[in-house]
Amino acid sequence: RVGAPESPAKPVGTSTPKAAAGSRSQGADPHEGGRLASLCREVEICRSCELHRGRTNTVFGEGDTSAKLMFVGEGPGADEDAQGRPFVGRAGVLLTRIIEAMGLKRGQVYIGNIVKCRPPGNRVPEPDEIASCLPYLEKQIETIRPEIICTLGNVATQTITGERRPISEMRGKTYAYRTSKVVPTYHPAACLRNPDCKKLVCED
Ligand code: URA
Repeated sequence: RVGAPESPAKPVGTSTPKAAAGSRSQGADPHEGGRLASLCREVEICRSCELHRGRTNTVFGEGDTSAKLMFVGEGPGADEDAQGRPFVGRAGVLLTRIIEAMGLKRGQVYIGNIVKCRPPGNRVPEPDEIASCLPYLEKQIETIRPEIICTLGNVATQTITGERRPISEMRGKTYAYRTSKVVPTYHPAACLRNPDCKKLVCED
């Protein structure tokens, strides 16, 4: 939902000054916000996979559309489904704290997910659900052109890199996705379950 111009309470962040720490200071395309807004409307009516049946809201993504840094999670949970915004539940509170610990504000980065509708009972999205939804994320990345994509957890990391190794093996190294550098780390939900992960996330 975020990204649509008619939802002023959930800005895409286009008003963020381009010189801000998390944004590209040059080369930002003034049409980025519009492109994402129309993609967001496509997502809102998407019925490409079975996940659309259980959703309250689609969760498109939000943040600065010219951010240097983009976070990619797995998919909406109950809070995100209720609000139509990514990472607003407990894991989201922790992600926001991580972003702030980096010296950035949440509005200076872009936050998206692999799938835009909540999997029932928060199960892991199925490969066919990921495949149906992935073109939306690909277009988001193509539009935002972040320097760094920080993938959160196994699903995001494996989907973006195409590798099948667990996050415990993949973190600590960087990968390439088109022109972006991919930095995998643990999902904030994993840090809530196992506080030892927090230190590793800080290192990443
Ligand atoms: N977990 C995710 O992977 N994404 C969200 O938006 C919220 C929780």
